[in-house]
Amino acid sequence: MEETVEKKSELRQSAPLLDSYLSYFEADHTPFTIPGHKQRASLLDAGLGALVDSDIPLYGGLDEIKLTNQTLKKAESLAAKLWGADFARFSTGGSTHANQAIIFALGQPGDKVAVSRTAHRSVLSALVLAGLEPIWMNPEIDSATGVPIGIALTELQRVLQENPIAVLLTEPGYLGTLSDLKPLISAAHDKSIPVIVDAAWGGHFGFHPDLPDHVISQGADALITSVHKALPGYSASALLLAQTRYLSAERLEQSFETTHTTSPAGAPLASIDAVRALLQTRGPEVLGALIENVKQFKLAVQANFDLPVFLNQSDFPVGRFDPVKIVLRVQQLGTSGVEIEKALIDQGIRVEMADRDTIVFLATLADTQADFQALAMKLVPILKKLQGSPRESATALSWSVVPQIATSMRDAYFAKTEMVSAQDAIGRISADLIAPYPPGVAVVAPGELLTEQIVSGLSASQKAGVRIAYATDPTLQNYRVVKSS
Ligand SMILES: Cc1ncc(COP(=O)(O)O)c(C=O)c1O
Repeated sequence: MEETVEKKSELRQSAPLLDSYLSYFEADHTPFTIPGHKQRASLLDAGLGALVDSDIPLYGGLDEIKLTNQTLKKAESLAAKLWGADFARFSTGGSTHANQAIIFALGQPGDKVAVSRTAHRSVLSALVLAGLEPIWMNPEIDSATGVPIGIALTELQRVLQENPIAVLLTEPGYLGTLSDLKPLISAAHDKSIPVIVDAAWGGHFGFHPDLPDHVISQGADALITSVHKALPGYSASALLLAQTRYLSAERLEQSFETTHTTSPAGAPLASIDAVRALLQTRGPEVLGALIENVKQFKLAVQANFDLPVFLNQSDFPVGRFDPVKIVLRVQQLGTSGVEIEKALIDQGIRVEMADRDTIVFLATLADTQADFQALAMKLVPILKKLQGSPRESATALSWSVVPQIATSMRDAYFAKTEMVSAQDAIGRISADLIAPYPPGVAVVAPGELLTEQIVSGLSASQKAGVRIAYATDPTLQNYRVVKSS
């Protein structure tokens, strides 16, 4: 079992946290420290042991209890260097936590921030916690596909007039499209304010010439990404990278620690380091294979249909679509994405997201050519069987609601509230954030008016088989609204 230094893989040698993780299990330990399972819970129960015996913490696992070796700092410096940032932190709390950490570092309660309405709910919750007020930027919608294609420069210019202290973008969006970022970043920097990019789904960007550049290299001031989404990291592992020209490193450090657990698990941290080393040592090679596999998969499925059934790079301006994103345009097939999803589940295949008009398949470095071939072989007969007459491209509820703000998000979040029937809720102020999940983009946020479009749209989406998250009454018969005085 023991691996000598000579035998360590190239990746392990260049990943200090991965090396610490593996080294821990190569030596004997008698820990009188947390975690309480002591990597010996299998002595109590085999199932519990299978779950927890490979778990080591940062403190007293990846490093000594007093962080004597500074292993995490070394790994974070390597990540900062690879992405060309001057600040990097590894999180075990997902992009949810990384978003919170950066938003806590921005300003003072009451300050305004310009936020893309395609933001994930974690951004909105962080704004409530930090007491910042969003000025929403609505995405541009591509008329041919009905897909949001990012924030237009004119939209940013409109909100910059309200003097926000930062700009928060979500790039790529959930369906793989991107704003034309450089002009947006220049416009923000002309006002000396930072651009924070939630790139939860774009961790692979910048490591292959056929992929969009990552946002730090495009001049953004912060990049948040989930290492467990587009990259092969441990669940809830995430990376926060920043440039400190318009952001304070001290505040970032403080707000990261304020919002992170004091007992970070070692495996997610080590996986971020290992994924960084993988991108650094073999990025173009493994990403090139993925890009080619996705291309061949799409061609193999498309060959069976006349109308385009996937979103393709050619649908969008150059550099504005992730080539490894697989988005099936179900309306072109005239059937229901939720029905296709059910048929796939029956065959052991889970998809990332399915609603009536869209299915998203997550493809990553961990998928093999054989996996894509198997998917195509199972998918094509299902699509042929369920195929009907094409429908017009429709824009999903998540991208089509223009919020009507009645009161501040934070005031509504902490207000006295009451439950009223769905019908009576129309015209009232929502106290809940409600979002189809995925993508987790708010259809209504606290402080916004519940409209007929929202109430009937949410109900129709739920009936069509979409999971509607975070409503106090998950049946959507009643809504939690701000109490009228
Ligand atoms: C754009 C975006 N940001 C943040 C998150 C939260 O990421 P995590 O699950 O890593 O906390 C998600 C999750 O889907 C997301 O889509």
